Amino acid sequence: MKKIGVAILGLGVVGGGTYKILTEKKEFFKRTQGVDVTVECALEKNIERAKALGISEDRIASNIEEVVSNPAVDVVVEVMGGVEPAKTFVLKALFSGKSVVTSNKELFAKHWPELEAAAKERNVGLFFEATCVGGVPIIRVLQESMQGNEIQSIKGIINGTTNYILTKMANEGSSYEEALKEAQKLGYAEFNPTADVEAFDATYKLSILSSLAFNTKINIENIYREGITGVKTEDIAHGKEMGYTLKLLAIGKNTEKGVEVRVHPTFIKNGDPLASVNDSFNAVHLYGDAVGDIMLYGRGAGSLPTGSAIVSDVIFAGKHDEYFYSCFNGDKGAKTKFVSDFKSKYYVRLIVKDAVGVLSDFTGVFAKNGISIEQVKQISAGNGESAEVVIITHKSKESAINKALEKIKSSDFVNAIGGCIRIED
Ligand code: HSE
Repeated sequence: MKKIGVAILGLGVVGGGTYKILTEKKEFFKRTQGVDVTVECALEKNIERAKALGISEDRIASNIEEVVSNPAVDVVVEVMGGVEPAKTFVLKALFSGKSVVTSNKELFAKHWPELEAAAKERNVGLFFEATCVGGVPIIRVLQESMQGNEIQSIKGIINGTTNYILTKMANEGSSYEEALKEAQKLGYAEFNPTADVEAFDATYKLSILSSLAFNTKINIENIYREGITGVKTEDIAHGKEMGYTLKLLAIGKNTEKGVEVRVHPTFIKNGDPLASVNDSFNAVHLYGDAVGDIMLYGRGAGSLPTGSAIVSDVIFAGKHDEYFYSCFNGDKGAKTKFVSDFKSKYYVRLIVKDAVGVLSDFTGVFAKNGISIEQVKQISAGNGESAEVVIITHKSKESAINKALEKIKSSDFVNAIGGCIRIED
């Protein structure tokens, strides 16, 4: 029976879950996969944490050299997070002839070509299923199951923390701050939540997913990013009444004009399958020209769900001698044409003066900028001083909306722009 020796770098939440699955299911893997997997060693500074998992002291490595020089190790699992020292450790493992399995989206999104070049040079595997959407097997679907398609679009809820926050704001009317506190209490959001709420995490994942989907390297700099910190509970509620649900949506489209990649708060129709993806769950919708619609749903984070993705990579690495390398190795995306002035429908909430002619004034600004209005709804009765109005536009260019809002901001008839959210339908 094929033996697979594993080393785990980092025994945090994901490393711990991986260790648990690999050790508890050892006999199951022998029976169902025909492989005998053993965790040979772990690199973890916190000895107590390692011992709590049942790892004896002689299997706790004190430095990376000990790991990469261990002949019993075939696969190195990197679950440390962050760029350094993870990058140095991964490169050392690859150059020592070990296959690497990683969950590190930031490292992968920023340094994929360099890591892949090292893997290719040493003819070892580089696996990254756990970098995107936790336990949902999206990477292997893109690499191994959709070859017959040119993928035209990818849309996903790929960050659980922000989905939890937005769901709470929508269902309970909580403010952003209240929902964030609750997410932190439950362990979904970090003490410093920036990576999630400012959509860096989703941008790393979209960079990886859209690169695979569109067969071209899409760097994070090519992706428009906007987080959820400015989202207001009242906009979620007004949107809901008008038939929309708010999600932090990662969108990739491959159009004749070029590739369009963006992450931002987005209204989608209440009946869209992605609208019912709630709490900390994730989902990705793909459209392939041959297969049509595909949707994958599940847990995007957590010890066992992310461990599940890593274990699948470990077993895949152990069972295959030929490895997948991307078709764009080394291509930094320079040749890809990107669409930055993309088109969306818009939800705009204005707090306007309650006076004669105000409606025609601001609709006039939209008209002057070539923006066609689909709906106008007055959401609070004028009290003689101010009134609140929501406008839904037809599809318009970003640049046109920005110009119109700039003009509206400086006009006498508008007190404030309450909210401005893109609509994808
Ligand atoms: N923090 C991420 C999320 C999970 O909330 O989805 C790891 O990428």
